[in-house]
Amino acid sequence: MSDASPAPQALRPATVAVTSGRPPHEPDNPLNEPITMASTYVAGGDVEYGRYGNPTWTAFEEALGQLEGGRALTFASGLAAVATIFDLVGQGQKVVAPRHAYNGSILQLADLESRGRVTAQLVDVANTDEVVAACEGASLVWLESPTNPALEVADIPPIVEAAHAAGAFVVVDNTFATPLLQQPLALDADIVVHSATKFIAGHSDVVLGAVVTKDDELYDVLKKRRDMIGAVPGPFETWLALRGLRTLHVRMERAQANAQELVRRLGEHTAVGEVRYPGFGAVISVVLDQGALAADLLTHKTKLWVHATSLGGVESTFERRRRWKGEPATIPEGLVRMSVGIEDIDDLWDDLAVALDTLTAQPPA
Ligand SMILES: Cc1ncc(COP(=O)(O)O)c(C=O)c1O
Repeated sequence: MSDASPAPQALRPATVAVTSGRPPHEPDNPLNEPITMASTYVAGGDVEYGRYGNPTWTAFEEALGQLEGGRALTFASGLAAVATIFDLVGQGQKVVAPRHAYNGSILQLADLESRGRVTAQLVDVANTDEVVAACEGASLVWLESPTNPALEVADIPPIVEAAHAAGAFVVVDNTFATPLLQQPLALDADIVVHSATKFIAGHSDVVLGAVVTKDDELYDVLKKRRDMIGAVPGPFETWLALRGLRTLHVRMERAQANAQELVRRLGEHTAVGEVRYPGFGAVISVVLDQGALAADLLTHKTKLWVHATSLGGVESTFERRRRWKGEPATIPEGLVRMSVGIEDIDDLWDDLAVALDTLTAQPPA
């Protein structure tokens, strides 16, 4: 073995994505974990019942856990995972969260606050001083980085340090970055949460969530809550997500390269007022000078770019975020969130440029 060869326990992420969560290499074993359709198991083992475990979940959890550097649990959706974590916060305790976190997470927090379950302090995650100051008296510091759809980035290490000093635990929603671009557990965050619906599954055909932690006690508490509440995924969905995870690195590489080139070209177009991009990943937000009407026109004038919510699929999709009632008023009306896929960059640009040129030629009234 040459010096450059990694030790078996230190395989690089691309190799982990391909090799983890597979049956042992033994004669006649399948290469892939099969889909186990089972509501119950013969008594006397570790699992017993379909709400407590499933071999297809285990395979996906092994793969995602290895990529994030912890132990994973899969959930019925990203928001089921989010709700399970919020449930860990004690009665009346304080949660710090990004003002521009995914609106479904913020909605859950607002609902908990309206019922007196928790108090919430919303912050600008890109303003580290503001987040650090807010940690005082907090029980949970919720980060999403980059945020959806404002694409703000949190400086995780100093926030984790302040949160832990205040006795709070730290959760990072890593949906946009994926474990390939950011590993919050290595920065001492306590829990990572994913909407695996997005880049991890990667083909716009699955709704799935996951949590990952390297803290065994937290893992046990989260598993107990999943067992109790039953927010569990179907085996087929989990199998599809694992199949998607196998190509996460090549999909992300191509989608990110496309995004970086699009950022350059969009920045030169006169119809585009502002391009927001954190420098990595495959989501861009553009703000059109002419506001909501122009943004709606853009999303209806393309042929390749699909007008659809969600993100992280192989196909490029986009939408005006303020079309949703729950989106914060601080998100500009003319902001279009673009999920860049893996198509040919010139086809993606040609399609967009035709639509953007129309806006410039005939500005909406
Ligand atoms: C950053 C982020 N977190 C969580 C969620 C919720 O995930 P799901 O739709 O799988 O419930 C989403 C969905 O858009 C998201 O973008």
